[in-house]
Amino acid sequence: MGRASVLLTVFGLLLALTVSLPNKDDWDIYSFHINSTVTSRYATTVITSRVANRMNEPKEIEFHVQIPKNAFISRFRMMMDGQVYDGVVKTKEQAQEQYTRAVSRGESAGIVRSVGRTMEEFKTSVTVAAHKKVTFELTYEELLKRTHGKYELQIYARPMKPVEDFKADVHIHEKAGISFVDVKGGLSTKALANAITKTHADKQAWVHFYPTVDQQKNCDSCGEEGMNGDLVIAYDVNRDNGFGDIKTSDGYFIHHFAPSSLPRIPKNVVFVIDRSGSMRGRKITQTRTALLRILNDLAEDDFFGLISFDREIIHFKRELVQATALNLEGARGFVRNIEDRGSTDINAAVLEGAHILNEHPREGSASILILLTDGDPTSGVTNFDTIQSNVKQAIAGKFPLYCLGFGFDVKFEFLEKMSLQNNGVARRIYEDSDADLQLKGFYDEVATPLLTDITMIYVGGTNLTKTNFSQYYNGSEIVVAGEIIDNNVEIFTPQVVAISSKQKVTFSNTNGSVDSSVSDGLLQRVWAYLTVKQLLEKELLLSGPEKEKVNKEALELSLTYGFVTPLTSMVVTKPEGESSETHHKPKEREEPLPQSYHRSPMRSYDQRRRFIKSFSGRSASLRPRTGTPFEWKPFVYDGFPTRRYSYPPLDDGFPTRRYSYPPLAPVSHRFLMKTVNDTYPLCFDIVGAVIVKLLHHPGTELYINGVLDSIKNGGFKEIVIHVGADFHIKVEPERISLQQGQNITHYTRAENVTAGRFTVNRIKKQTEVTDGDMRLVILVHEKHGRKFLWPVLRKLPSAGDTEGLLALNHVQYEEVHQDAHTKVKTAKGETDAQRSTAVDLRIRRPVEVGCCLIPADFVLPRPLTDFLVAHV
Ligand SMILES: *[C@@H]1O[C@H](CO)[C@@H](O)[C@H](O)[C@H]1NC(C)=O
Ligand SMILES: *[C@@H]1O[C@H](CO)[C@@H](O)[C@H](O)[C@H]1NC(C)=O
Ligand SMILES: *[C@@H]1O[C@H](CO)[C@@H](O)[C@H](O)[C@H]1NC(C)=O
Ligand SMILES: *[C@@H]1O[C@H](CO)[C@@H](O)[C@H](O)[C@H]1NC(C)=O
Repeated sequence: MGRASVLLTVFGLLLALTVSLPNKDDWDIYSFHINSTVTSRYATTVITSRVANRMNEPKEIEFHVQIPKNAFISRFRMMMDGQVYDGVVKTKEQAQEQYTRAVSRGESAGIVRSVGRTMEEFKTSVTVAAHKKVTFELTYEELLKRTHGKYELQIYARPMKPVEDFKADVHIHEKAGISFVDVKGGLSTKALANAITKTHADKQAWVHFYPTVDQQKNCDSCGEEGMNGDLVIAYDVNRDNGFGDIKTSDGYFIHHFAPSSLPRIPKNVVFVIDRSGSMRGRKITQTRTALLRILNDLAEDDFFGLISFDREIIHFKRELVQATALNLEGARGFVRNIEDRGSTDINAAVLEGAHILNEHPREGSASILILLTDGDPTSGVTNFDTIQSNVKQAIAGKFPLYCLGFGFDVKFEFLEKMSLQNNGVARRIYEDSDADLQLKGFYDEVATPLLTDITMIYVGGTNLTKTNFSQYYNGSEIVVAGEIIDNNVEIFTPQVVAISSKQKVTFSNTNGSVDSSVSDGLLQRVWAYLTVKQLLEKELLLSGPEKEKVNKEALELSLTYGFVTPLTSMVVTKPEGESSETHHKPKEREEPLPQSYHRSPMRSYDQRRRFIKSFSGRSASLRPRTGTPFEWKPFVYDGFPTRRYSYPPLDDGFPTRRYSYPPLAPVSHRFLMKTVNDTYPLCFDIVGAVIVKLLHHPGTELYINGVLDSIKNGGFKEIVIHVGADFHIKVEPERISLQQGQNITHYTRAENVTAGRFTVNRIKKQTEVTDGDMRLVILVHEKHGRKFLWPVLRKLPSAGDTEGLLALNHVQYEEVHQDAHTKVKTAKGETDAQRSTAVDLRIRRPVEVGCCLIPADFVLPRPLTDFLVAHV
């Protein structure tokens, strides 16, 4: 065949940001087209990029685009020199096998990865011979989901250069008729207004976006590297009958059901709000803001309940109350007083929420339970399975549970499973300035129940996707696809039975006819798309042979229809002698790259270099990728200063064994380790709100211990200095207590105290303690309005035999690269290392720095347990 098949690893992708930095004009993208066709809400988008290498030497050319998370990639090809290189969708195992072979040949690799809230990125590259051209073509498919009364198609344009022939064309075709079309998004600005044309004609609509090269350089979020932003095309369809649209073709059907002219059903909604310590700061403020807005929107015939919880539960009222003006006023007061405090007892809180709803059944109403949490259960019942089974039993299918996971410290899969087990969904709330709007936006989706207990019936249909739904909300849509037995359209009879307010209602296809004009094979793909999505959800709820069966079914469909799903990978084949790659679909539980990274692209080589230097502390040289292992590039993404305190769970099954870090513990604290010659810092985590031996010096009977907070990376709550048996200094953020024998004196203000051989000098944000030649400074830091301590040893007691975390020698280590993968070798041996970040708290104004994360036992001279004490 004359082709080599090779794969990328995770780090290869990390490389790519810094590679292929072109000199001006040596290559160009002479054409970049995005073509999206939407038929019956199913969008097929093709991105075609044509690139010419105008140099006298070969050049590595990169293709790098963003696609919606909800989409499946279904085709990728490269065309070069009369040859076509098609990506092939394979099972993970097959891809893994090829991957392993590639790695053993010393080749590099990469994966698709989430970016921002809604997108993931696909990238690949190929070496193009002198004066040759290459065409990249990527196809992806998605079923647009109706929320807030509209469908949205998001198109991301970031060709990496200004392009002479840039075109984005969207064609929407809806048999039912299009009620409106709007163009929004970051690129829909004044500067680009005349580049966008929108045509709307009853059943069809077109959006064309043809910006000139000048416009591509000068719009907001554009620069020398061209455009970097999205267009969002929002539309809705006409709905004249309650039954909705049903389309058939080639033995398949799809039914869109979204009646809107129904009366709303009064609801009973209970909010269960986490106010554990980790909600502190902006999160709790935004939650309060969102709840206040939500309370304003409750209708008088709605009933509601409000619970806040940490390890204890606080009720607004112990029962469901009507949304009267008086009750709402009381609830507002309750909301304003929600303060962050202790740990997280999710089990007790959700059970209590379910109890409140169960205690007050109201005929003709719709009950909804909403949990908002930002962390794992840390108190009460903490076992995930036990919580899930308790909750399932308490809810017993009577109402849906929606789980909102705030930030990335939540185990999203746990919430997802718990919601799916109870007819709900889990949603991620991104920690950002608009978190309150995200919360309110989610509430709005479920704010207006129109139907409950919906059963979709298709006589003459088979292989149906999900047909039972607990509630239907205004602005959303129920979609069912399936096969028609023997393609017998005559017998095929769809019907919907549901409860509207207090009565049973039936919808049938009064028109008696179905639209069978949809183009070939499309409905079958929609059916496959929906089936795979639902099987993947179902799989999450099962175990053992049942899970395997569902997994197999989803896998077979993915392979048959060529979808890159979480179960498959796309192997991109390249010309002989070049590294090829596999592409995987990332899971929602992975933390995406901050979108801001993409919003503000680094414009130049120098900027990128400075960027790397700013957090690695070393200067970097960026060479174009040549096939030799890169020292620098793998550092780029992981060193990115995101506010991330957990390990990125790259558990998409590939290559997992490389990331065998301990499972995420509820509380961990990151420590930076000094290294010999100030090489790239090492860091390690201590798990638990434990008491740490900071400095012990038996020679002078000096013992200093610190109590770590029960909040992740929350620093020390108190630091206690003992001298002998009856002299103690306790330092807390707000005060110092001095105990000599039975006498205790508290100091809360600036003070300079000499006591025995000690001098304690307390000024605003630091306390300095000297004892002979030992000098310790305890800094007070503040994060999200919470104060905590951090000790810095300025001078070690000169007499030897000190031990403790503050008395450690600088560590010497060596980095060992294996392919794109890094290991670190210390005196304790060799271990996997991960690029991460830590906040350097040893200085007055903490900064986030890049560091190489390794297990504590490889940093410390003795086992970690030797550095812990039982009593402060
Ligand atoms: C976009 O794709 C559709 C479907 O493949 C095709 O019919 C149409 O001609 C394409 N439009 C453009 C502008 O290339
Ligand atoms: C449902 O949404 C439609 C369209 O936005 C609106 O006209 C209608 O009044 C809503 N129904 C209820 C009960 O709020
Ligand atoms: C769907 O609901 C109907 C009627 O409520 C019930 O008979 C049927 O068993 C349900 N199907 C599934 C798959 O749960
Ligand atoms: C009934 O269906 C036919 C064929 O799809 C369509 O032309 C007609 O407009 C529909 N009538 C109504 C009242 O929806």
